[in-house]
Amino acid sequence: MQHIEQLISAATTEFAGVNDAAQLEQAKARYLGKSGSLTELLKGLGKMPAEERRSAGAAINRAKDQIEASLNTRREAIKRAALEAQLDASALDITLPGRGRGRGGLHPAIRTLERIQELFRSIGFEVADGPEIEEDWYNFTALNTPENHPARSMHDTFYLEDAPGVLLRTHTSPVQIRYMKAHVARYGHLEHMPEIRIIAPGRVYRVDSDATHSPMFHQVEGLWVGENVCFADLKGVAADFLRRFFESDDLKVRFRPSFFPFTEPSAEIDVAFMSGTMEGRWLEIAGCGMVHPNVLRNGGIDPERYTGFAFGMGPDRLTMLRYGIDDLRLFYDGDLRFLAQFN
Ligand code: FA5
Ligand code: MG
Repeated sequence: MQHIEQLISAATTEFAGVNDAAQLEQAKARYLGKSGSLTELLKGLGKMPAEERRSAGAAINRAKDQIEASLNTRREAIKRAALEAQLDASALDITLPGRGRGRGGLHPAIRTLERIQELFRSIGFEVADGPEIEEDWYNFTALNTPENHPARSMHDTFYLEDAPGVLLRTHTSPVQIRYMKAHVARYGHLEHMPEIRIIAPGRVYRVDSDATHSPMFHQVEGLWVGENVCFADLKGVAADFLRRFFESDDLKVRFRPSFFPFTEPSAEIDVAFMSGTMEGRWLEIAGCGMVHPNVLRNGGIDPERYTGFAFGMGPDRLTMLRYGIDDLRLFYDGDLRFLAQFN
């Protein structure tokens, strides 16, 4: 029976040293298998004398129970360890910080528009708007722009295929007419009609594309109509705005005589780059002038009594100047590496 005790402790030790389910089954076979050590002992029972056989049989059966018990304990332990390893491998580390959604920000063109609105509001201008899909009459005719004007060419303007007389507006100036008409409808009956003092920011479209021209761009229209509005007011408002926009008193600004059908006299405003590869070069930022009497009349306003000035600024160009950017199209390529710099 000494032999049986040794067998039990050998089996228990062997099982304990095994860490893998298949190896454990092989170890089991060495004791309990068809020709395993314990099975061999059982086979030997038959050759024993009857009086020894009973107690030997009982001892072998106890040994079998013990070996099976230690086998089962080890089996469970190996199963649990495998499960734990699997859980560890696929575990979520809930203590890691979240990845978040990535912060958005305002497009530089929108930042500029907001800044322009803030500055004009501070000197008593209201913000108006008008449709981007516009009628030919508001975009051209009412603005004293004759039928044969080059801007009306199919090559310069986006027309809507199935809608004659409808186009994508080429500038924000049609808002002048829309606003004057609405203003007159509201206040025209008064002895002293209130002044019109508005800006109209928005998107406009042209068949244009180079470093300073984009097919979709922004404009900010300005319109001031009253009883004694003159060119000096235009220069004062524009120069004051630009100094405040660029936060610079020694900004280089020039008014260059020009022509628009809807203003007389007319000028274009240029500003010099203060930084970047274009430093010192002039960039046109706006067209402006005194509102043409025909335009006032088309808006329902008496040009004998009222005068006004108007301007149409390119805020995308202002953004180029402010940040020293030499190609306008960068703003609209949608490259976040470029755009994220402004936030
Ligand atoms: C006009 O559009 C006139 N409506 C401006 C005006 C309004 C004059 C009221 C008088 C009274 P112009 O085509 O020059 O004018 O455009 C005005 C400004 O828009 C330009 O000075 C420029 O800053 C900007 N601009 C014009 N085309 C583009 C373009 N393709 N991309 C970006 N900015 C442009
Ligand atoms: Mg121009």
